[in-house]
Formats: sequence, structure tokens, C-alpha cells
Amino acid sequence: MGRYQEIYQRSLSDPEGFWAEAAAAVSWDRRWARVLDDRDAPFYRWFTGGKLNTCYNCLDRHVENGRAEQPALIHDSPVTGSLTTYTFAELRDAVARFAGVLRDNGVGHGDRVVIYMPMIPEAAIAMLACARIGAVHSVVFGGFAGHELAKRIDDARPTAMVTASCGVEPTRVVSYQPLYEHALEQAQHPPTTLIVKQRPAEGCELVPERDLDWDTAMAKAGPADCVSVEATDPLYILYTSGTTGQPKGIVRDNGGHAVALTWTMRNIYGVEPGEVWWTASDVGWVVGHSYIVYAPLLNGNTTIMYEGKPVGTPDAGAFWRVIAQHKPVALFTAPTAFRAIRQQDPEGAKVGEHDLSHFRTLFLAGERCDPDTLHWAQNKLGVPVIDNWWQTETGWAIAANPMGVEQMPIKPGSPTVPMPGWDVRVLDAEANELDRGQIGSIVCKLPLPPGTLPTLWQAPERYKRSYLDPFPGFYRTGDAGYFDAEGYVFVMGRTDDVINVSGHRLSTGAVEEVLAEHPDVAECAVIGVHDDIKGQIPVGLVVLAAGVSRDHAEVARECVERVRDEIGPVAAFKHAAVVSRLPKTRSGKILRGTMRKLADGEDAQPPATIDDPAILDEIKESLQEIGYAE
Ligand code: COA
Ligand code: AMP
Repeated sequence: MGRYQEIYQRSLSDPEGFWAEAAAAVSWDRRWARVLDDRDAPFYRWFTGGKLNTCYNCLDRHVENGRAEQPALIHDSPVTGSLTTYTFAELRDAVARFAGVLRDNGVGHGDRVVIYMPMIPEAAIAMLACARIGAVHSVVFGGFAGHELAKRIDDARPTAMVTASCGVEPTRVVSYQPLYEHALEQAQHPPTTLIVKQRPAEGCELVPERDLDWDTAMAKAGPADCVSVEATDPLYILYTSGTTGQPKGIVRDNGGHAVALTWTMRNIYGVEPGEVWWTASDVGWVVGHSYIVYAPLLNGNTTIMYEGKPVGTPDAGAFWRVIAQHKPVALFTAPTAFRAIRQQDPEGAKVGEHDLSHFRTLFLAGERCDPDTLHWAQNKLGVPVIDNWWQTETGWAIAANPMGVEQMPIKPGSPTVPMPGWDVRVLDAEANELDRGQIGSIVCKLPLPPGTLPTLWQAPERYKRSYLDPFPGFYRTGDAGYFDAEGYVFVMGRTDDVINVSGHRLSTGAVEEVLAEHPDVAECAVIGVHDDIKGQIPVGLVVLAAGVSRDHAEVARECVERVRDEIGPVAAFKHAAVVSRLPKTRSGKILRGTMRKLADGEDAQPPATIDDPAILDEIKESLQEIGYAE
């Protein structure tokens, strides 16, 4: 038996022994009473009774143990032309001081803080400061519009919000004030305090009595100490797309999270403490939470925070420049970034312009990694390219290639094998286990390992209904796939209406909700169509209300604007078409799958139950007019 098999089998046969051993890498204030607490199953908790502080484990502990002068965070920002480094001691001091600002403004243990920020060090500082005083952060990605921010504010009910004057995109400066003011107006439970980081690219006007200037507040505040919290206390809430417009608040605890993430850095990503690590994502996504901020710092690594894009800042060689300059041993990003680079530099000529000799591994996640992209990256970089599969809910990889344990042979198209603690199965609709090679719903046997979601924020029933009820005894991932003969997992796509745009998750249902609110729209459908760079993008088909005789292009334009205003530019919703009817089954179910196939130019055999097959010709024509169904 290989080392991976040995470790994996042990994690399933003796989960408590396995994770208790892993927990030794974390510094505890009080040892746990129970490793796995199943008293409230199917709600499982890890390390009950234990106390710790996540920020202490990320920063103070390393300062005390000889890493004070090691860089902890390198902020590299080609969009503003700045480079800033914080050592572990400097980052600890900044975080302690900002924790003091929060404390002085009434934020305490268990209070929520919404963080709506671009990729600047202050975003990570705010997150860690919350962890330091036992507050619960909820980071909202900067590409979301005010309406989405308002929904998250109302669910989290924060005491304070931390934001910035602007984000800097390659082609424009994004003013944050109109976005957050819009959200504060809409929200039923707005925070009373706003702390605003003024950026040189564009400042904003502060509202007296409500807003604090980040720099002024930092200059005045005294540092706050780490507060010891229960292992089961929430560290953060991160909202993700559900099947409705209401986002799901994924909860992460402190203890299980610190244990699991620390374990992954060495064992999955093969990175030793002291090494430099780079995740090119955004702190607004789970990959950013886990692998820009928490895991590398927990493991004593230098983490790179990159405020730029793979292309256009300034060109397709940007990633190689960062790797050569800061010397990370590994990069973690989404396949979409590599498709974007490849489109602009198909021969990979820019790779050769930089010394990447120290670079060991490329990790890709966030969406299915198409074999073509994997081969290209492997050929150009000459290092293993490792696909890993996970979700906001899980916080770390369900399946990966455990580089620090044993490198398994790479099979393009597969994120390799289940990681310790993940008892992955493939079931049919009646919950029968399928044979290897057969596609079905991918589920994970309960309990899930540490670091995964214990529940949804203030919505335990929704948690059960969404994830546990469909297959009793299992967690439903929402992904479809299969195991091959050698036990490799293949993840093929979602079983719900969630699509993956540039490695970000988007619910087509949420886009439909926005389109349905247009006064001239009677009915609509949104489908995820193939995009060479982004993987998938949403396209809308709308039917006008009876008696409306407006210019179709104009209505389509308004639909696009509405989605940008309500959800945000990150939805990448650029195309809508007006049609006379939508194809449906005789029982009235909209045939989204058939339309998606039409749009992608696939053979779109409609089901026999379609009520009017002739409508498909009109749909095809409309899709062709907006550049699809060729
Ligand atoms: N604040 C404001 N707007 C933002 C934003 C932010 N933080 N992030 C993105 N946007 C905007 C973009 O400017 C773009 O606006 P546009 O429609 O006016 O052009 C829109 O949202 C879509 O952004 P994105 O999906 O990032 O597309 P892009 O064309 O700017 O870049 C890639 C495409 C592939 C280069 C980019 O998605 C990328 O670098 N991905 C890397 C992987 C990654 O981050 N994965 C996350 C999960 S691991
Ligand atoms: P998110 O929660 O936004 O990280 O999105 C999670 C979803 O992205 C998963 O449920 C999958 O559908 C998809 N996904 C993430 N990583 C992979 C991968 N390596 N292979 C296939 N799909 C992936």
C-alpha cells in the first residue's frame, strides 16, 4: 500500500486519532474534550471544548518562534504600481492595532464585520483582526453590486463594515462609495460604523458620525490582544450562490479550520514553513480565504497578495514576472487564468523571459480543469500541474494529488483522489451506489472532516434541506461525476442551476430573478453557455409581457444593465435575446438544458415531452444573432 492509501484509510477508520494528531501542529489555549462531537448529528462539530485563537496561530506564534523578520505578506499591485511587504512582526502589529480599532468601536466576540474591499493588505489585516478578537468576518467580493452587498449585510447583521474608497481594475477605477451607500440604503440592518481605507487612486467623502478613516483610526488605536475562543465558535461567514437569489452563508469554525488548513499546506501542497507561496485569486472567494490568508500564515509561509490580472497588467507575462521576483515555490489559481494567458501568448514565449527555476508546482481549482489547459501549462512551465476539487462549503480540497505525501500519477481531467477524511461516493437518484465508471451525484459520507461547514449562518434547516436531506447520511456536493477503475475522481459539472464563470460560482436562478423584475419581461431563462476563456457565461432569453411592443435590442440592453447593477460586473452577463416563447415540456418545465446545447452548437435533441418543437428554430436564430449556436 502506498503512503497516500495508508494515510487515507487511517483517516476513515480512525478519524479522531488522525485529526487529533494533526491538531498538534496548532497552538491551543485549552485542549479539546472531544475530537469529533456527534451528539447533535447530523450536525457534527470538531474539537469541542478546545480553545484557541486563529490570529495567534497565524501571526503571534510565528513572531515568538523566530519568524518575526520573515516576510508574512507581499502585496504586489501592478494596477497601482506599488509593492509592499509586511514581516510577521509588522503584520502582527498592524492586525493588533486594527483589532483595537474594531474593539474601540464596539465590535466584540461573536459580532459580525462585513469586509467589502479590493485586494489590498488592509483586507487581510481586517480579516485577521476580526479573528484576533473573536469577531466573525464576512468578506463580500468587490465585484458584487450594492444589492448583493445589501443581501449579505441583512443576513449577517454586522456591527461594522470595513471598506475602501475604490478598487482598481486594469481599465478603470471602481468607486466603492456609490456601491456601499446603495447597499446601506437598501439594507434593513445596516452597520452603525464604517471604516474606510482611502486609496491614492481615488478618495471618497466620509460621512461624519458614521465613517472612520482607516489611517486616522489606526494612528489613534492601541493594540488589542488575542481573545481565546471556542474551537467551535465561528471564524467567518462566506456567502455563496444557492439555487435561489438568496445567498447561502457558509459558516467556518476556528478549531477544525486551523487544524485542517495547516495539514493541507504541507501534505497536499507540499510547502514547508518559511517558503514563499502564491495564490492568485481574490480574498472575496473561498480560495482567497483559505490560501491567500489563513493556510499559508498558519503554516509560517510568506503569502503573496496580487492586485492584478493574468493578462493586461501589463501583459501575459505578469504571472512569470511575479514568480521570478518573489520566488514562490508554488502558484494556486483557476484554469481560466491560464486560458487567458494562453490566448494572448499561445507559444508561452513570455515564460522564457523569466527565471522560474525555483518554481515547483502549479495548482489549479475553482472549475473543471480541461486537459488542454493542463497540458499547455505543464509543457510551458515544466512542473507538475495539480488539479484540486473543492467548494466554498468545504473550505479545502475534497480531491487532490497529495504532493507532500506521495505524488500520484496525474490524469488530465481528474482532480486525482479523495483527500483524508473525505469518504466520497457516487450515487444514482435513488441513492444507490454506482459502479466505477458510472456518472452520478457525488456525495460525501458524514461526518465531513474538520474545516468544513458545520451549518449555514442562522439557517440550520436550510443547511439540512440543501445538503443533507437529498441523500440521508451524506453531504450532497451538487456536482456530478464518477470514479474510474483506479479510484480517480472525475468531476463533470453541477447537478443544479449553478454555473462557473471564471472560476466563480453563479446561480442562473439569481440572474433570472433580476430579469424577471424588468417590467416588460413576462418570462425568462438564463443558461450557462461555453466561453473559451471564462469557461461558462450566463446568457438570458426573455419573453416580453403581452402588449409590449418595444425594440428588442433596447430591452436586451436594459436586461444586461440591470444584472450589472443588481448582481455586479462579476456576473459577466453581456448577452440577452428577446424571444416569442420559451421551449417547455408539456408539464411547463423550461428546457434550459436543450437551449444550452443549442447555444453551444451541440446536438440538442429535445425530450419527447416538448410541447412545441418548432420554437427551437426561433431560439436558435436568436442565439445566433448574439453570437451563439453556430
Ligand atoms: N471589483 C470590481 N469589479 C471587478 C472586480 C472587483 N474586485 N473583479 C472583477 N471585476 C469586474 C471586471 O472588471 C470585469 O468588468 P467588465 O465587465 O467591465 O470588464 C467583470 O467584473 C468580470 O471580471 P472577470 O470575470 O475577472 O473578468 P476579466 O475579463 O476582468 O478577467 C480573467 C478574466 C480570467 C483574467 C480573470 O477572471 C482572472 O484573472 N481569473 C483568475 C482566477 C480567479 O481569480 N479565480 C477565482 C477563484 S480561484
Ligand atoms: P466555489 O464554491 O465557488 O469554489 O465553486 C465550487 C464549484 O466549482 C464546485 O462545486 C464545482 O462545481 C466547481 N469546481 C471547483 N473546483 C473544481 C475542479 N477542480 N474540477 C471540477 N469542478 C470544480
